[in-house]
Amino acid sequence: MDNNLAYNLNQFVKEKSGVLRLTLTDFRNYQFLRINAELCPIIISGENGSGKTNILEAISFLTPGRGLRGARLADIKRMVPQYMNDEYCPTAITPLNWAIAAEICKGDEIINIGTAVEQSTRESSDDDDELRSFERRIVKIDGNKISSQAELGKYISAIWLTPQMDRLFRGGSQPRRSFLDRLVFAFDTEHAKRTATFDHLYKEWFRILKEGKKDNFWLTSLEENMAATGVAIAAARREQTARLNTFIEHEPDDVFPSVRLELNGTIEKMLDTMPAVEVEDRYKQLLCSQRQNVLYNDNIDGVNRTDFKVYYRKKGMPAEMCSTGEQKSLLISIILAQSKCQTLHKGFAPILLLDEVVAHLDDIKREALLEKIKDLEVQAWITTTNPELFASLKNDALFLRVENNNVIS
Ligand SMILES: Nc1ncnc2c1ncn2[C@@H]1O[C@H](COP(=O)(O)OP(=O)(O)OP(=O)(O)O)[C@@H](O)[C@H]1O
Ligand SMILES: [Mg+2]
Repeated sequence: MDNNLAYNLNQFVKEKSGVLRLTLTDFRNYQFLRINAELCPIIISGENGSGKTNILEAISFLTPGRGLRGARLADIKRMVPQYMNDEYCPTAITPLNWAIAAEICKGDEIINIGTAVEQSTRESSDDDDELRSFERRIVKIDGNKISSQAELGKYISAIWLTPQMDRLFRGGSQPRRSFLDRLVFAFDTEHAKRTATFDHLYKEWFRILKEGKKDNFWLTSLEENMAATGVAIAAARREQTARLNTFIEHEPDDVFPSVRLELNGTIEKMLDTMPAVEVEDRYKQLLCSQRQNVLYNDNIDGVNRTDFKVYYRKKGMPAEMCSTGEQKSLLISIILAQSKCQTLHKGFAPILLLDEVVAHLDDIKREALLEKIKDLEVQAWITTTNPELFASLKNDALFLRVENNNVIS
């Protein structure tokens, strides 16, 4: 790609994309909610606790995984408090089943996506042939149930920034890994399936070892599968990190600082110097040699421990050593770069879900961010307690207000 041309979005054919209509039933605080949206910035204002973040969370459930709060299915069911003799009775809540339906636009296509919970059964893992009932999330595209959530990636992708992510660079590596994996999903829809498969295999391997079962055949088979899936995960992460780094190099270092991204993981490092088949063999050996670690609660090395490191490029400073405001700006830089990069490579932009994103930004940064969002021509859902901060988008955004578990324009 010619670098002079590469980063001017207007020179590329791009498809407008986003949610045109969102319907929630018994989801969190909403009994029934319908929002008719537009493909532009959407400012959702309301008091604390009114239900702003819940709307963003519902949209995040249109992508693979557990949404922007990483919630359990039971948590998002609308809880109805019960009263007994006029007294609130906190234990007697009635959990209702939730559903989310959305009309999505991607270029000329209109796609209907629906997701809800379904009761299912599976055999118990305790060798007692008992069937256990459990709940799972089902997804339908245009009325047809899909077997893998990864398929959603063909029609919609979303990137989010939440106040919880203000601590992304400070704590353990897991949230950073998930953040990176979500950036990969947008480019490689199979990645969602791979990470889910790896987690499943890992849990099974861990459980067998923890229970002290000496099923060597089964353990070896799990290790083979973990190694194959793990190497594919590592390769996709490397590819996305390299793609974004190349892209960011050509981005201006302005109000939002230029970043450098790095992967710190044993398997990812091996791929620097060895062909994938050899790395797969080494990974298998590595897993086998770590069987004892499970019993002693020691760390298990592999793609489950990879860290995603971010640096403030100009300062050469690791993100965790930057100020709170700088860390937020670094995250915004990554999200803006990903959004542009995805539009150029895939032809359609991700939906941005920005929860209280301007809360800690100074006036210059806030206005610069709004200008950039406008230029990207993406659908960005932005929550705020103070819509006046968005006055400059008066003619370019849809303003919605959440009140009494409902949304008004
Ligand atoms: N499963 C549930 N059933 C019913 N209500 C719920 C459920 N989960 C959360 N809520 C309620 O939804 C309300 C709105 O939450 P939400 O986080 O969306 O508010 P918000 O407008 O983003 O607030 P803030 O400005 O403080 O971030 C909260 O009062 C919360 O208690
Ligand atoms: Mg909120």
